[in-house]
Amino acid sequence: MPLAAIPYLMANMMEFDVHTYASLSSTQDYVRELAEEGLPEGTVIQALSQTKGRGRHGNAWTSPLGNLYLSVLLRPNCSADRAGQLAFVVALALSAAIEEFIASGYRKTLKWPNDLLIDNQKIAGILLETELKKESLAWLVAGIGVNVMSAPNGAVALKDLSERPVPVHPFRDRVLDHLGRYYARWQVEGFAPIREEWLAQAHGLGDTVRVRLPSETFSGIFADLDEAGALLVSLPEGGQRKITAGDVYF
Ligand code: BTN
Repeated sequence: MPLAAIPYLMANMMEFDVHTYASLSSTQDYVRELAEEGLPEGTVIQALSQTKGRGRHGNAWTSPLGNLYLSVLLRPNCSADRAGQLAFVVALALSAAIEEFIASGYRKTLKWPNDLLIDNQKIAGILLETELKKESLAWLVAGIGVNVMSAPNGAVALKDLSERPVPVHPFRDRVLDHLGRYYARWQVEGFAPIREEWLAQAHGLGDTVRVRLPSETFSGIFADLDEAGALLVSLPEGGQRKITAGDVYF
């Protein structure tokens, strides 16, 4: 066993308690309620379909049968300003699970802040929602949607990239397995190795990006991620801007 594996074994590996429903309005809304009721970290709600699936920016997340829809409740003991780092933890877990199923020859990239792309088409999205108590994080719900059997126009489904069938439940178990591992790593080692691994798979690193904020739009070069997970954009006139939210177009 490599020595590097030992700290993760010593960390308390997450035990997930998975509840699967035929249909829910939104797993995200359900887990938010459970979080308020005090359910423990590791509670996972999966729905085989959703009638009101939600994506980022209030967008609808179309949720027919055959894809993966789940939300995970986490209660990390950390300050509120570290919550955003968990988007990268979840993205790495999803990336590792997808890697096990796709055939070789496809290019998988992680698009800031939390999309997974295959050959520039979206295969999965992550929605993080938090409740803060003063300066610390009371809970965080990580919503995960993966196009397994079907995808909306312009997106891609895992089954079309795989040489073998992709049953949703075994795929879900691989996602959770990797999530437990990356979450333990983040707890033991902090954000630095997560950031490094994410950057190695980053979409558009070193390329021109167009950033749209509520008040303005500008272009620059996607230069780096900072230690909190913000996007660092180098400006043509010199200097860098730190982007913590907003739409980024590559
Ligand atoms: C995005 O890319 O905009 C994020 C999409 C997140 C969708 C998932 S599906 C499971 C969970 N329940 C929801 O209503 N949304 C998230």
